[in-house]
Parts: sequence; structure tokens; C-alpha cells
Amino acid sequence: MSFQKDFLWCVGGAAAQQDGGYLDGGKGLNIWDALSEGHVKNNDNCHVACDHFHKWKEDLQLVKELGVNSYRFSVSLARIYPKDEFTVNEEGVKFYTDLVAELEQLGIEPICTLYHWDMPLWLYERGGWKTQLAVEWFERFTKTIVEAISDKVKYWLTFNEPQIFVGHGYQIGKHAPFEKLSQKELQNISRNVMLAHGRAVRVIKKYAKLSPKIGFASTCDVLLPLDGDDEEKAYLASFAGTRSGVYTPSWWCDPMLAGKKPNGCDWLSEEDLKEIYEPLDFAAYNIYNAQHTEEFKYSYAGMPLTDMGWSITPECMYYSAKFMYRRYGLPIMITENGMANIDFVYEDGKVHDPQRSEYLRTHIRNLKCATDEGVPVIGYSCWSFMDNFEWSEGYGKRFGLVYVDYRTQKRIVKDSAYTFRDIIKLNGENL
Ligand code: BGC
Repeated sequence: MSFQKDFLWCVGGAAAQQDGGYLDGGKGLNIWDALSEGHVKNNDNCHVACDHFHKWKEDLQLVKELGVNSYRFSVSLARIYPKDEFTVNEEGVKFYTDLVAELEQLGIEPICTLYHWDMPLWLYERGGWKTQLAVEWFERFTKTIVEAISDKVKYWLTFNEPQIFVGHGYQIGKHAPFEKLSQKELQNISRNVMLAHGRAVRVIKKYAKLSPKIGFASTCDVLLPLDGDDEEKAYLASFAGTRSGVYTPSWWCDPMLAGKKPNGCDWLSEEDLKEIYEPLDFAAYNIYNAQHTEEFKYSYAGMPLTDMGWSITPECMYYSAKFMYRRYGLPIMITENGMANIDFVYEDGKVHDPQRSEYLRTHIRNLKCATDEGVPVIGYSCWSFMDNFEWSEGYGKRFGLVYVDYRTQKRIVKDSAYTFRDIIKLNGENL
């Protein structure tokens, strides 16, 4: 068996992580540009990153070389609205119209993320997600982008991992804007993000020129059954809304994918749910590994870990697809999967990363097992296209299929990229 015929084989990146050009082309500052100091390893920042803002054309050639048929990118919000809620930076808009035009030339389907964590500084200074202004402005921002690029973009993701930008950004203070707020404040922020999502979906549906396919990229920290009998228990525990507050997938997915309150939620009204929920076309999620709890503990001494210290659990692909499909009944799109590895350039000038090749093979094979059991899976996106600014970890963690030497901005295609290309060539039949 292989994946469906028009399967989306994708690589992805996000503006704040790869673009750089932080003051170029009329861009304003975002919260990562402005607030990172003292919060990121080695005092790295995202001001230059992979300089993709200047090298995007060559980079898209490399994307093509990897053999994928789609490319996931995010819009830098402060490039479009640099200083307030009214002033559009046309040069910023042009960056994206050029980008999607080039993708069309290359025969690559764009997947556009509207919010991958880089809130404009002006909006943050006026209260950001704590306010109605953010909800209203996000609607306007969405309209601007949709009008500009929806003649070439069909696939839209409103938000990337609200679990993480709210959890890391406002609960534990690990990500910008590095705040530590109360549960009540987190609920207010969650509600505003969800309302902004609902508005954005409606705007896309109303103004898109190509018939749109819309989702949002959730996390999916699924719990693994320890033996066959535990599957039902693992399913229920995976979606227990109160398991880890804003970090719980269903905290967001239940309202946004199903129009329901997550278990134990008393901070959303029925009215809110109507505004938040607008039918989506797929359930998208990013998944790197399975989680564990006291009850579902699979870790053991010496367990293999990635360079992030994350356990390697390929079965998470099989169970997450099954569980997400069972709960939300929508086709599945994997919007991120991959690993940070200790990559470096060998004497032969290449980057040999067999661990990542193995990770990709085993994870994609497990995903295929879910499709064999009838779960509709429409796409798989490897994270990331190239090494980039790994948020509070800075440049020390490398997730890319393409290596970046940050001293010279030279790119080197890693061995695992060719493994991925071979998988794609046969649409997964060789797994
Ligand atoms: C994010 C990416 C990030 C990756 C690895 C996801 O949480 O969407 O931006 O680089 O995980 O940490």
C-alpha cells in the first residue's frame, strides 16, 4: 500500500525562524525580534536567521530539489502591518505574492500559516492577545493576505500550535513575550485566540479566490497504549481537557474542530462556541513524539532521545492519526514531524545524518499503517526545510533537511533529505 495519489509531501518553515531581514523591506519589529534578549541560548536572536528574506528564490529551488510537491510557510505579520492596525506595507505584501508566484512556477502547492508566533510589537504593546483589538485586527490581517495571495494559495492554517505559544509564551515564560500569567488570564487569552481563529476562517471562506481548504496546526501529545488492551484508555486520557491546561490538544481542538467545550471548561459560552467554530477541512497537527504520564509511562533507562532530549516513539504517528480521526472525523494532515540531530559537516563536505533518515522512515511507515486501516491522511510535512532559529534554543538545535552554516549562509542538503526524496518518489511504497 502507499499513500493516496494526490498526497501532499511537504517541508515547512516559519517566518520568525528562517526569514531574517528583520528591518528590511519596511518590516516592523515583532515580539521575538524585540524581546528575546536574555531569554535565548547563547544570546542568539532571529534578526538574520537563514536570511531567507533575501535568499528565498534560491531556497525555493532547493525545496524543489527535495522532490516535495508542497511547501509550508508562515506570514510575518509585522512585515504586513509594521506599525499599527491600519497601515499595510505593500513591499511586505509583495514578498508573499512573489513567493507564491514562484511556487506556482515550480509546481509546488503552498500551505500558508497565518500566525506562527511572531506577533507585531505594536500589537503586543497594546495588550496583544489579552485584548479584543488582537481579535479584530487578526481578521483584518487575514483579509489583507487572502486578497493578496488566495489566487495561488488553497491551503490555509490559521494558527500554529496555540498550545505552545500560549503555554510557553504566557504560562511558563519560555517563549516571547515571556510572561507568567494566572489561569484566568490564560483562559481569556485562549478565548481571544479561538475567536480570532473563527473570524479568520470566515474571512478566508468569504474572500478566497481559489476554493480554500482550511485548518489550524495543533499539537498532538498523544498517549501510547502500553499493550493492545489499553487503547481505549489511552484514547480517553489523550483528550482529557484538564490534563495539562492550555497544553492539552483538546483544549483547542474541541472548540475549533468540533464546536464543543473541552472537558472541564467553564470559560467558554455557547455564544463563544458559535463564533469560534466554523467547519474546517482537515485536522492538522504537529507531532514529534508521544507524551507520557504516570499511567502511560513508556520511557526506560537509555531510551533513544533526539538532540532536543525528546524520546523517539514512531508509533505516535499511528495512534495520533487514529485517535484524531476518531475524535474529529476529519481527514488528517501532519503539518510537522522531524527531529533535531547533532548535525555537522563531515570532511567530505556533506552532512551525514542517518538517525534522521531512520526517524523519517519509521515515522512515515507508522503513519502509513493508519492509512492502511482506513484513516484518511492527506499530507505529511517534514519539519523543517532547513536548519533555523529554534526559538529559545537559538541556532544550536538543527531540525533541517538542509544544513545551514550561519557564518556564510551556505546551504548543504543533508543525506536524510535524499531519503525523504526517495520515500516521496515512490509515494511511500518502499516503506
Ligand atoms: C513549532 C516549530 C518548532 C518545532 C520544534 C513546533 O513546536 O511549530 O516552530 O521549530 O516545534 O521545536
